Amino acid sequence: MVDVILGMQWGDEGKGKIVDFFAKNYDIIARFQGGPNAGHTLYVNDKKIVLHQIPSGIFHEDKINLIGNGVVLDAVTLKKECDAVAAFGVDYKKNLFISERTHLILPTHRAIDKASELSKGVEKIGSTLKGIGPAYMDKTGRNGLRVGDLLDKNFTSNYIKLRLKHQRLLDNFNFQEDISAWEEEFFEALEFLKTLKVVNGEYFINDKISAGKKVLAEGAQGSMLDVDFGTFPFVTSSSTITGGVCSGLGIAPQKIKEVIGITKAYCTRVGSGPFPTELNDATGEYLRNTGNEFGSTTGRPRRCGWIDLVALQFACMINGVTQIVMTKADILDGLAELKVCNSYKINGVETNQVPFQMHKMNIEPGYKLLDGWNKDITTVNSYADMPTQMKTYINYLNNYLKVPVNYISNGPGREQLVKV
Ligand code: GDP
Ligand code: IMO
Ligand code: MG
Repeated sequence: MVDVILGMQWGDEGKGKIVDFFAKNYDIIARFQGGPNAGHTLYVNDKKIVLHQIPSGIFHEDKINLIGNGVVLDAVTLKKECDAVAAFGVDYKKNLFISERTHLILPTHRAIDKASELSKGVEKIGSTLKGIGPAYMDKTGRNGLRVGDLLDKNFTSNYIKLRLKHQRLLDNFNFQEDISAWEEEFFEALEFLKTLKVVNGEYFINDKISAGKKVLAEGAQGSMLDVDFGTFPFVTSSSTITGGVCSGLGIAPQKIKEVIGITKAYCTRVGSGPFPTELNDATGEYLRNTGNEFGSTTGRPRRCGWIDLVALQFACMINGVTQIVMTKADILDGLAELKVCNSYKINGVETNQVPFQMHKMNIEPGYKLLDGWNKDITTVNSYADMPTQMKTYINYLNNYLKVPVNYISNGPGREQLVKV
């Protein structure tokens, strides 16, 4: 049996915290896509840690954590992450596994990412510059190198061949940076990678499922950043949706049961691209400061706005979301009035659907106004004790989305989660 936790917005919904919370109910926690562009924040013994590629179940010592074939892996970042979790006493050599089919991010991928963004002017994606796009391009272009290839005696010569190809691209971009230092740390990190448990991920996970073990698939990014259904071209390069679980881990669709969608009580986006409910005013500033909305991976300020039910309904549809966890409810504590986007107006026409080429449209969000609760909810630990205004907010979401909000997160702490 497989359950999924994924983001329903533009990433940073709080997936890491929620995966860490639910991990106790599972045997295996598996990442199925993305790479070091992700930043998943956890608080362990009140200390903060940001995971990029290691699944967020790593702090549960009896759980298996698998980096699936759908991920693109940066060995240098992985080594740093392993050191960071080891400082918390985690024996990653015991419970971290990596699929041999996982593609490697090469130093030249990072360089191409940077060169490509630099060449774009105003059309910049706002990539995290971790080499994600170029690594996935080499995967689908059938050029990439995989973790399992490390054992191949031709690995270095294949790397050099690919590097030559990449160099031509970099020359076209007129990219000047010397990447030899990046390569040195890359080859060092590959030696480290060889000491980890590399497995045939698809048999590994399916054997465990057949033996009755429970899998939690952890998404990165969010549905609106999905390469097919997100706000293309302002998206990431992987399938961030439930469909990505099947191809990113080698799991059949019938094995998937619950799809737990994570949304903030409001909305954020980091990087460029359309964001209909964005607030470029004092309220947006309030959300950013109160919510500490600065990127976990890049430190960039996140754009902030009201919750967008049109986009959330779309996310429910494409993912088959069965239940919702709403995070960062506490950030709305100090607001007297709340707005919930329930429609878009495009060229004077109202719609409840996410349009094609959102970035080329002038979208005017329609709002339902609701009362704020004006109360500190960070220490409330039962739904019964939550303010009535919050219950009205939740009921409005439930009625619109037809998928229940089952949990409310009211602080970054590990146990700050209230069952509805
Ligand atoms: P992820 O990428 O989806 O795992 O989310 P990030 O870790 O990038 O960003 C979420 C941020 O919100 C982190 O700083 C979390 O510590 C924080 N966070 C998560 N849930 C809550 C919550 O309910 N309240 C508050 N105040 N912060 C939260
Ligand atoms: P988590 O897992 C928020 C955004 C980038 C950029 C676009 C493409 O922490 O939610 P990429 O580096 O993938 O080429 O960038 O996607 N982006 C994220 N935004 N959270 C993330 O991950 C993101 N990963 C990528 O800012 O706009
Ligand atoms: Mg994040």
